[in-house]
Amino acid sequence: MLNLTPFARVLLLAGLIAAEPAASKAEQLNLSQDWLVHKTDAAGADQGGYDDRGWTRIVVPHDASIMDGSDGTPFDANAEAGQDSGYLPGGIVWYRKHLSLSTAQAAQVARLNFEAVYMDAQIWVNGQPVATHRYGYSAFSIDLTGKLRAGDNLIAVRVNHEDPSSRWYAGTGLIRPVSLDLMNCAHIEPDSIAITTPVATPKTGEVSVATTVANCAAGAKSVELVNRVVAANGDVVASAAIRLSAPAKGRMAHKQNLTVPDPALWSPESPNLYTLVQQVRVGGAVVDERRTRFGIRTISVDAVKGLRINGQPVRLRGGNIHHDNYMLGAAGFPNADTRKVALMKAAGYNAIRMAHNPASQATLDAADQLGMLVIDEAFDAWNKNKRPKDYARFFADNWERDITSLVVSGRNHPSVLFWSIGNEIPESGTPLGVETGRKLARVVRSLDPSRPVTQGVNAEPPLDDAQFATGDVAGYNYHANLFAGDHDRFPDRVMFTSESTSKDAFDYWHPVETMPWVIGDFVWTAVDYIGETGIGWMGYSQDWQKLGPYPWHLAYCGEIDAIGRKRPAAYYREVLWKTGIDPISAFVRQPKETQDLPDRGLFPTTPPHLDWSLDDVHPSWTWPDQVGKAVEVDVYSEFPEVELFLNGKSLGRKGVGVASQYKATYSVAYAPGKLVAIGYRDGREAGRWELRTAGDPVRAQLHSDKTQIVANGEDLAYVNLTLLDDDGTPIYARDGDRQVTVHVSGAAALAGIGNGNPMDAASFQSGKRTTFHGQLAFVLRGLNQPGKIQVTVDIDGLPAQYLRLDAVAGNGGTR
Ligand code: GAL
Repeated sequence: MLNLTPFARVLLLAGLIAAEPAASKAEQLNLSQDWLVHKTDAAGADQGGYDDRGWTRIVVPHDASIMDGSDGTPFDANAEAGQDSGYLPGGIVWYRKHLSLSTAQAAQVARLNFEAVYMDAQIWVNGQPVATHRYGYSAFSIDLTGKLRAGDNLIAVRVNHEDPSSRWYAGTGLIRPVSLDLMNCAHIEPDSIAITTPVATPKTGEVSVATTVANCAAGAKSVELVNRVVAANGDVVASAAIRLSAPAKGRMAHKQNLTVPDPALWSPESPNLYTLVQQVRVGGAVVDERRTRFGIRTISVDAVKGLRINGQPVRLRGGNIHHDNYMLGAAGFPNADTRKVALMKAAGYNAIRMAHNPASQATLDAADQLGMLVIDEAFDAWNKNKRPKDYARFFADNWERDITSLVVSGRNHPSVLFWSIGNEIPESGTPLGVETGRKLARVVRSLDPSRPVTQGVNAEPPLDDAQFATGDVAGYNYHANLFAGDHDRFPDRVMFTSESTSKDAFDYWHPVETMPWVIGDFVWTAVDYIGETGIGWMGYSQDWQKLGPYPWHLAYCGEIDAIGRKRPAAYYREVLWKTGIDPISAFVRQPKETQDLPDRGLFPTTPPHLDWSLDDVHPSWTWPDQVGKAVEVDVYSEFPEVELFLNGKSLGRKGVGVASQYKATYSVAYAPGKLVAIGYRDGREAGRWELRTAGDPVRAQLHSDKTQIVANGEDLAYVNLTLLDDDGTPIYARDGDRQVTVHVSGAAALAGIGNGNPMDAASFQSGKRTTFHGQLAFVLRGLNQPGKIQVTVDIDGLPAQYLRLDAVAGNGGTR
């Protein structure tokens, strides 16, 4: 209890004098619920008196661009950003949220955290402007100490996504989580925590922890800072405490080294994690507690031994991804971001390049947990723009805070491998590009000396030489042809392809296996994304950079499609990487004079035609128009010998290996039935793959990734629907596709529905979609109340399907 005169107490209650916040523990409020959104400009909406009754209630993360317009779809064939954004417009969008706080809460040290707002955001709290933040992907926090009040508070946000702002689909609005930290006067500055592990051996883990303790009081404060390392089973495996004097209205930085004996090291194969639990104590009472998950591991690279994690060699089996979640747009729901990482892991990737902006915390958390390495990237443009309204407008004034945000928000994640300062920067190799690269790298190294700096460069020598010299590891976008010659000129240079084409997967991977200084390959892209319409189908045209016209909206170059299906390229890569996941698989080339999707030859192409997809092959043995005609079958195999059988009859054995790029091709006279590819090792069957001719669809099968949803308003379940014939064979042929309508009632809402068809520009919210190659997926979002969830799926001409899930109490597991 504060000792105040009666008069001072009156002033304090009236909020007229600032008092030291009471000694309560820190808390973080998740501000995901009960936001109101308005999709046009709204003068005066920053003020409390504004009438927002007509606005729409939503949850955050939220993407305003993916929401249906008046015509029932989010698309606009004439959208200013056109093919770049997948014909989805940006615009001005407002958000408002009322937040009720107790007297004690309002008196705390307060920090409002936005993980990303796309873009050019202005923020007001209780009618006062509190921040402007331009970059659409960097996390930022606003100090609200003394600006909050007991009772109702209003947070208002205006975002101004002017088009064209990006070369891919960016989304609009509060695309990542929002939270409020309420802390004691004596507290750990959340951004100050920096954990490194300079020694990571099976015997010893050295954990170095940098922390700053802040004190808002008018007098110096004696505090105790306690650091504990807690293992996954809850055991405290190292601890240390220190008494510090936090200066009046100031801060005190401290570095602590802890030793963990016999640590469980973090690596992509064994992603073991620890938690650093830090407490600030005043007079014995805990006034602040922070928990930071981390891993004990070291990273080293050189041109002789390549990349090593904990001294063990690792080859980067990498894929680029963008941040969008297809049917949810750019809304970075933690489950959705996690799912992308999990899909990649299941397909054999061990590394992600986050193109071309900082990863979300959910992405990094999932990568930590699942064992994925991440190249976390800052920018797609620096001083010179790529699109008229992109971030280059703001770079000069904002680069330092944005690159700082990248490192500070990512550095305690063991999954983060390298910091990438940019992608295909137009001024690369010029004095401006080199100078900017140097200053970005300088800031990165000052905040985190433990990780190499890289950059994705798409240029020829000598331009790329100057640019590569600003970093530690050279990211080549394409250009694997330079690896040998560049090694002769720069024997110490460590190289990898930061982007490559699926079509040339072998040519990009082979150097990784044969040249020690080439440490990995990242395909463009692992998962399909919205924007750069049709690049994986029609590629660039002679009219440089012309891509798919509306209704094309997906890039269609993802080795994993937009609903999570592995496409043939993903199977080929599994074989190239010798993952053992699908060590043999077989696909059928689209027969001549037939087409799966139109427009492949829409534009005359410029040689060399950069084709961001593998061959036009399909996991199907259903080609009724081809009976008796020759069709080509490609077999991908890790096994040195393969044999193909049609309806039990051998079509011959073939050798497979480096010389054949792990493929064997057969010409087969088509007859319906069963096509089986068998792989042999040492003359014995070691694996097989089967394609069966499907009949007509007779039913659908639903598969949900969970049976329970947490009733916290943001937990998601993904449901996949597959059409089957009466033998249970999946339908792939397009004429088997059916219109589907999903109805959700009870304790969940439909968050989105999609089919992965790159040119089906229908609504993602209506609940109606046609299957694509026999499948589609939809997403359920649990509401705030526990209860039953009923899903009814109507399918044209087929029996309806039903799904029951439960929404259960709890606040998470989603973050
Ligand atoms: C690269 C670029 C990527 C993507 C890709 C395919 O040059 O860095 O962002 O645009 O081409 O078009």
